[in-house]
Amino acid sequence: MSGPLLQIDGLHIAFGSRSVWRDVVRGVDLRVSAGEVVGLVGESGSGKSLTALSVMGLLPLGAKVSSGRILFDGTELVGMRDGAMNKLRGRDIGMIFQDPLSALNPAIPVGKQIVDSLRTHASMTRRAAEARVVELLDLVGINQPAERARAYAHELSGGMRQRVMTALAVSSNPKLLIADEPTTALDVTVQAQVIGMLDRIRRDLGIAVLFISHNLDLVASICDRVSVMYAGRVVESGAVEPLFDAPRHPYTRQLLRCVPRLDGGTGPMPTIPGLPPRFGSVLPGCAFTPRCVVSQARCSAQAPPMRRESGHLSVCWEGVP
Ligand SMILES: Nc1ncnc2c1ncn2[C@@H]1O[C@H](COP(=O)(O)OP(=O)(O)O)[C@@H](O)[C@H]1O
Ligand code: SF4
Ligand SMILES: [Mg+2]
Repeated sequence: MSGPLLQIDGLHIAFGSRSVWRDVVRGVDLRVSAGEVVGLVGESGSGKSLTALSVMGLLPLGAKVSSGRILFDGTELVGMRDGAMNKLRGRDIGMIFQDPLSALNPAIPVGKQIVDSLRTHASMTRRAAEARVVELLDLVGINQPAERARAYAHELSGGMRQRVMTALAVSSNPKLLIADEPTTALDVTVQAQVIGMLDRIRRDLGIAVLFISHNLDLVASICDRVSVMYAGRVVESGAVEPLFDAPRHPYTRQLLRCVPRLDGGTGPMPTIPGLPPRFGSVLPGCAFTPRCVVSQARCSAQAPPMRRESGHLSVCWEGVP
C-alpha cells in the first residue's frame, strides 16, 4: 500500500430527511498512516464522533455522508455495501468508545463474546479462540484472565470493561483502532492506566489509532499528530509537539487555556466564553467569529484561508494581509 492507511477527503455529513439535509460535518480532511496515532480534539458537538462513525459505516439514522471520500487501505468506504463493510469493520478496523456496556452483550460472558468474534472474523477453531482470549485479556492487563473471561460485563469495574472492549476491538488484529473518548467516563487514575494499556498494545500490535478526546493532556501524551475540530471543520492540524507548543489557530489557543491545571490549583476551570453555532446553521465566514478574541471584520463574511507551513495547517484570517 502506498499513501495513508486512512484518508478522509472533504467529508460532509448531513442530518435530515427527504429534501432537507443540513451539514453538520463540513469538509473534513484527515490522514492516519499505518502505525500512527492521530488525535481528534474539539469541544462537544464539533463532529468528532460522526466523523469516526462514518469510517465505521455506523452513522445514526437520519445521517448520511453527503459528499467526500473515505479511503481505507486504498478502498473507498463511502457507499460500500453492508456485507463488505461488516467484514472490514470486524477484521480491519476496531472501535472502542466511552460506554463499554453498549458494546458488550450483558447476557453473554465477556470471554465468549471475544471467542465469537475471533471465530467469525479470524476463522479460528473454538479451542484456538479460547486460548487467544486468555492471551488477549492478559495483553490488556487483566489479572487472572481465564477466570475473568467467564464474567459478565456488569460484574466488572469500568476500567476493566474498557480493557475487555479493547481486547474485543483488537482481537482480529485490525490495522486501525478508533478510540472515541475511551476514558472520559473513568476516574483520573484508572484513565491513566487505560491510556497506558492502549499505548502499549498499539505498539505491541503495530496498530494505527484515531484517538478522539477533549482531553488535550491525553492527546499530547500518546498522539503523533493532532487535528482540531470546530463546528464540523478541521481548523488546525499538525505534529503534536509544535502544535501544542505554538498553536496557530485562535480556537486551539483558547482550548489550551482551558486544560485543567496539573499543579492542583483551585478555582473554576476556565471555559471558552460563548457557545458553538447551532446545529446546521449556515455560516458564510469563520464559525468561530462570535467567540474569537482576535476576530476581524472579514471573519464573519468570508471563509478563512487554509495555510500550511512545514506540515502545520491552520484555517484562519489572522496574520493574512
Ligand atoms: N443523532 C443525532 N441527531 C441529530 N443531530 C445529531 C445527532 N448526533 C449528532 N448530531 C449533531 O451533529 C453534531 C456533531 O455531533 P458529534 O459528532 O456527536 O460531536 P462530538 O463527537 O464532537 O461531540 C452535534 O452538534 C449535533 O448537532
Ligand atoms: S478566521 Fe477570524 S474569527 Fe476565525 S479564528 Fe481566525 S481570526 Fe478568529
Ligand atoms: Mg463524541
